[in-house]
Amino acid sequence: MSRILITSALPYINGIKHLGTLAGSMLPADVYARFQRARGRETLYICATDEHGTPTELAATAVGLDSATFCSLDHEVQARLGAAFGLSWDHFGRSSSPQNRALTQQFAQQLWEAGFLEERVTQQVYSRAAKRFLPDRYVIGTCPHCGYEAARGDQCENCTRVLDPADLKNPRSAVSGSTDIEIRDSKHLFLRQRLFAERLRGWIESKKGDWPLLVTSIALKWLDEGLQDRGITRDLEWGVPVNAVDWGANPQGARPDVEGLAGKVFYVWFDAPIEYIGATWEWADANPGEGGWERWWRAPEADDVTYVQFMGKDNVPFHTVGFPTTLMGVNEGANSPWKLVDQLKGFNWLDYYGGKFSTSQKRGVFMDHALELLPADYWRWWIITNAPEGSDATFTWEQFQTQVNADLADVLGNFVNRICKFAETRFEGRVPEGGTPGDLERRLEVDVAAKLTELTTLMEAREFRKSATALRQLWVLGNQYLTEAAPWTALKTDRDRAAVVVRYGLDLVALFARVSAPMIPNAAAAISEALGVTTDA
Ligand code: MF3
Ligand code: ZN
Repeated sequence: MSRILITSALPYINGIKHLGTLAGSMLPADVYARFQRARGRETLYICATDEHGTPTELAATAVGLDSATFCSLDHEVQARLGAAFGLSWDHFGRSSSPQNRALTQQFAQQLWEAGFLEERVTQQVYSRAAKRFLPDRYVIGTCPHCGYEAARGDQCENCTRVLDPADLKNPRSAVSGSTDIEIRDSKHLFLRQRLFAERLRGWIESKKGDWPLLVTSIALKWLDEGLQDRGITRDLEWGVPVNAVDWGANPQGARPDVEGLAGKVFYVWFDAPIEYIGATWEWADANPGEGGWERWWRAPEADDVTYVQFMGKDNVPFHTVGFPTTLMGVNEGANSPWKLVDQLKGFNWLDYYGGKFSTSQKRGVFMDHALELLPADYWRWWIITNAPEGSDATFTWEQFQTQVNADLADVLGNFVNRICKFAETRFEGRVPEGGTPGDLERRLEVDVAAKLTELTTLMEAREFRKSATALRQLWVLGNQYLTEAAPWTALKTDRDRAAVVVRYGLDLVALFARVSAPMIPNAAAAISEALGVTTDA
């Protein structure tokens, strides 16, 4: 049986996540991991905080902390909230870990030595006031095309044209408003992605029909628009340092200009996906008995691993082009030993009343607030039943309330209550003996077996919405059976008949607890526990 490696897109460090982040990556990954463990597969579910980059520096400065302290604090908050939501990570790592730093530097070095990195001099905006370079999107000014006065240096929101910060009229810092800025030359390393365009295309083409259409079409669109080489270093302080790399010579015999690159860090989108591996290494260091991280990531030991990634659609290009290019490029021999993703599950957006959830505008439902209001399982159930798979989905409080009541209270809760209460009051809380199953039971067995097969197939295929529907239908079968078999009526004339129904009913309760556990683990545990008491009595 193959092993399963699961990663969900790494949440940014900048504050508490909203339901959209849960829906688009972390929760479905968790449900899938729990399902695979329950199937008896060796499963490793890895996540981490994505900690580097300008937004982190700015967020830390805003609250008067240095970046490292800010990240440590926020990591703890996210770890706690994730656990409270029942996210069953085998490890929740940090992209700022020493392990990730070592891997990121090693990959860069190997890419250089294989000839896949190139030095280029680029023009960057420098803030004399803040004594730092400003990333393009933190420079604002007047758009040269449409005159919009708050155009960002990377793109004008008004006319959508792609810009260069040097094009802006009256440029100023978006952070401080200062106009004391200038354009300076800055040396950077570029990953020569264009060299990989054909190989990537062939790889993505081979996934058509196997991966969701959403994913392959985003990837192919990206390739169709023409792959660009990509700068993988930045003029920042907070990140994996570039100059600590022990550079060798490239095929032309050249080494990078170490002085020109001094004080720079790798681009956050270069080191963040490497943290999938880094966090596995962190996990292995914390669990020395587990046989190491390489057996999950490197051929030939990892040949029996199926690697499944979960993410929102905005992340798809980085996982179908950027990260695979890194892994293909490190190129230890013709065939990279690094595990590429086998199954990539992408999601559309979860909206809040038809508009976007927004962290900066505090719009929507956030993990901490959600848990103050209601148990995690309510949220988990709603998110999974409304997973934005085929299209965007919308959260509203009204629909949330209706759905949770209808499914968890009226169907599952009602079934479990009815049969458990009846067994308790009429059969002293024991599983009764006696009686022989009849037609109703035979039909129930057939129906339940068919639904279970359907549910299992859908879960294996990561069709979460449909899986939730199938699970609900399974619960409905239980209710229908109880209503038809009516043990309370049978009891008056035929105690054995009632005993059969109670036995079947309690069996169903136990089954429901087991198969519902991936989606609603706390409710499932409570049901099993209640049953344990009933059956052991
Ligand atoms: N932090 C990114 C986001 O929330 C996702 C990073 S995924 C990784 O969109 F693979 F790069 F880590
Ligand atoms: Zn414009």
